[in-house]
Amino acid sequence: MTGVTGVTGVSSADLLERWDRQQAAYIAEREGRFAAMLDVLDLQCGGEPAVVVDLACGPGSLSFRVLERFPRARVLGVDHDPALLALAREAGERYGDRVAFVDDDLTADGWVERLRAHVGDEPVAGVVSTTALHWLSPAQLVAAYRDARDLLADDGVLLDGDHFRYDHRQPRLRSWAAEHDRRTQEAAFDRGAEPWDTWWSELSARAGYAELVAERDRRFADRPAPEATGVGFRLAALAQAGFAEHGTVWQLFDDFVVYGVA
Ligand SMILES: C[S@@+](CC[C@H](N)C(=O)[O-])C[C@H]1O[C@@H](n2cnc3c(N)ncnc32)[C@H](O)[C@@H]1O
Repeated sequence: MTGVTGVTGVSSADLLERWDRQQAAYIAEREGRFAAMLDVLDLQCGGEPAVVVDLACGPGSLSFRVLERFPRARVLGVDHDPALLALAREAGERYGDRVAFVDDDLTADGWVERLRAHVGDEPVAGVVSTTALHWLSPAQLVAAYRDARDLLADDGVLLDGDHFRYDHRQPRLRSWAAEHDRRTQEAAFDRGAEPWDTWWSELSARAGYAELVAERDRRFADRPAPEATGVGFRLAALAQAGFAEHGTVWQLFDDFVVYGVA
């Protein structure tokens, strides 16, 4: 797909920007969270990460921020949604061969070997992910973290930004976080952010995208969200996956960025 407009006349850049506004309705300080992740990459890699892998990259929000911040970096985004990948590829055309978006399933055997073919000889300095790995079951998450650690060069860093929910052990924090989420959404929708379903209708209306959205629906039909886990679980998963050092670099209520150094 070469053109940037579909039958609705909406450009890929416009849809990407609207994706960002829509996601920011659910993540109170989404840009701050991205900035913290980019700062860590910068600090750990002396400002020049060679290759960065964006797991469950969606339409490329974080991939594009990495490319902007590090002008010599190459980014490989992986996702299993053919519609979001198509949008990412369109929006990423301006970066040429500095970026590639790869269709694979992070729960499937062998995704990391298949990805290695795209990496080439350069070291993978960072594996990043946002608002996504909560879709993996606990066992799948540990396996994905382990695969990410194997992919990373020595001293490379994994950064995972996501909601890690509180449970009955912290009832006040859980209710503050829920009310904070509700207020964030209310304020964002008052400012004109689109609800999730409206955004997807716009995407489907673009030339060639209805089939991709139907394929997406087919692929994800039998995948209910696993039970939510807390930050303690993610930290244990990083340790279990063999990261030499791990911890938290950013937090707002139940929204965290955890890191692991390979
Ligand atoms: C809410 S979106 C986040 C996208 C992007 N990282 C961002 O922050 O805007 C969650 C993404 O996870 C992807 N995803 C969920 N399960 C996946 C899997 N098993 N393999 C690859 N991608 C997956 C979905 O296709 C979707 O693009």
